[in-house]
Amino acid sequence: MRTFRTPRPRRPRRVVGALAVTAATALASAATLLPAGQAGAAGTTLRSLAEAKGIYFGTAITQGDLNNAALTAVAGSQFGMLTPANEMKWDTVEPSRGSFNYAPADRLVSFAQAHSMRLRGHTLVWHSQLPSWVGALPANQVQAAMRNHITNEVGHYKGKLYAWDVVNEMFNEDGGFRTDAFYNAMGVGFVADALRTARAADPNVKLYLNDYNIEGLNAKSDAMYNLVKSLKSQGVPLDGVGFQAHFVLGQVPSSLKANLERFTALGVEVAVTELDDRMQLPASSTALAQQGRDYASVITTCLAVRGCVGITQWGVGDGDSWIPGTFPGYGAATLYDNNYQAKPAYAASAAALGSGAATPTPTPSTPGPTPTPTPSTPGPAVSCAVTGSVSSWDTGLVENLTVTNTGSTAVNGWKLAFDLPAGQSVTSAWSAVIDPSAGRVTAGNVEYNGTIAPGASASFGFQATHTGDVALPTGFSLDGTPCTTA
Ligand code: XIL
Repeated sequence: MRTFRTPRPRRPRRVVGALAVTAATALASAATLLPAGQAGAAGTTLRSLAEAKGIYFGTAITQGDLNNAALTAVAGSQFGMLTPANEMKWDTVEPSRGSFNYAPADRLVSFAQAHSMRLRGHTLVWHSQLPSWVGALPANQVQAAMRNHITNEVGHYKGKLYAWDVVNEMFNEDGGFRTDAFYNAMGVGFVADALRTARAADPNVKLYLNDYNIEGLNAKSDAMYNLVKSLKSQGVPLDGVGFQAHFVLGQVPSSLKANLERFTALGVEVAVTELDDRMQLPASSTALAQQGRDYASVITTCLAVRGCVGITQWGVGDGDSWIPGTFPGYGAATLYDNNYQAKPAYAASAAALGSGAATPTPTPSTPGPTPTPTPSTPGPAVSCAVTGSVSSWDTGLVENLTVTNTGSTAVNGWKLAFDLPAGQSVTSAWSAVIDPSAGRVTAGNVEYNGTIAPGASASFGFQATHTGDVALPTGFSLDGTPCTTA
């Protein structure tokens, strides 16, 4: 990644330092901090692109993540579905028998509601993050404890969630049932019992079974398939199957589509519930390009499967992802880098969701979407500073730029002109309209980021092809006034 020297967070007025070049493959180096990561906060977000195609694009965050302004800015703008990553699990909600704690999850529910996001409840019955008191119960008390837990928690969130992962990870890799507290006490019937209990507590929420390594055709997905078929034939309430999709780079199963389709043929919806795509660190540009193809193939597959209702990425960015802590040596598994800058997989995902069609670049003869109005009173000259970062691979790059109004008057409607290095050609843009695609280009604001108050910034980004020169642009000028990159 290449960056201008980074601005200090919370001091957007500060003019930034000289162009600094870091290793092209480094993800987490001195990349720009927000607001650049908010790229695409309207019109061309993953969320809006997905929704335009009839699916959702979601994320999973923790209560601790709410303290991270960069993370929440991306989460609240780019994603339309939220899964609390830990806070609805049994160990948090009912740490001791009969005493329920909803405060952590309620905070995440409030965040989702404040950002008009829907919610997936995760998860009611699971062998992991299960308080020890459940495992210590005599077998003849487990069913009552499970029913009470489900009834209480589903009741608490009644009417607020899109779906519940009622049972999570019930199978071993060979397709046998995992011998956890629930199976040991109740046998296979615990699944139907949990689903029926959840339905009684909220008749409208979608009820899911969720697992990992069931994305392709294999023994484990066969077991899930047979279970779903059996439950449906018995009339057990079951609406969907969640495919976690914790993938390893380059290993999205080729049978994903066929597998999803055999489930939808049983009369359930399907969703990708915990998508990430891990690679060995440090991430190479080749790996990041492959990650783009992996994400795109998952998205394309979901869009092609009638009954695939959405995709949730597990985490927002590489810095909050669970992967490095669980799979040592692996990481870089999400669409955003450690500084919440979009990675190549972001552009690949947006493209798979149809961003090219959704954000046509206007021809030079057509006016931009929001022309700069003539100021009613002459103000001080515009003053501006630009920061940027670029991630590149063999033939492509993704760039995020932030323009800061360093003057004392608000900018209302803006055009930022700059020179792209020779050989670079813009193929798609978000949070700005860029025209033409090469040479000296102009980025015009979109509807939501047209006003830049003094000290504030606007961020946008683009994907481009290149022929070897992946340097950042030069010669920035805002509404005709040169900007510093200093
Ligand atoms: C993970 C969380 O992300 C971590 O913070 C936690 O320490 C462990 O659990 N499958 C699931 C998720 O169903 O609940 C897991 O979440 C990731 C694997």
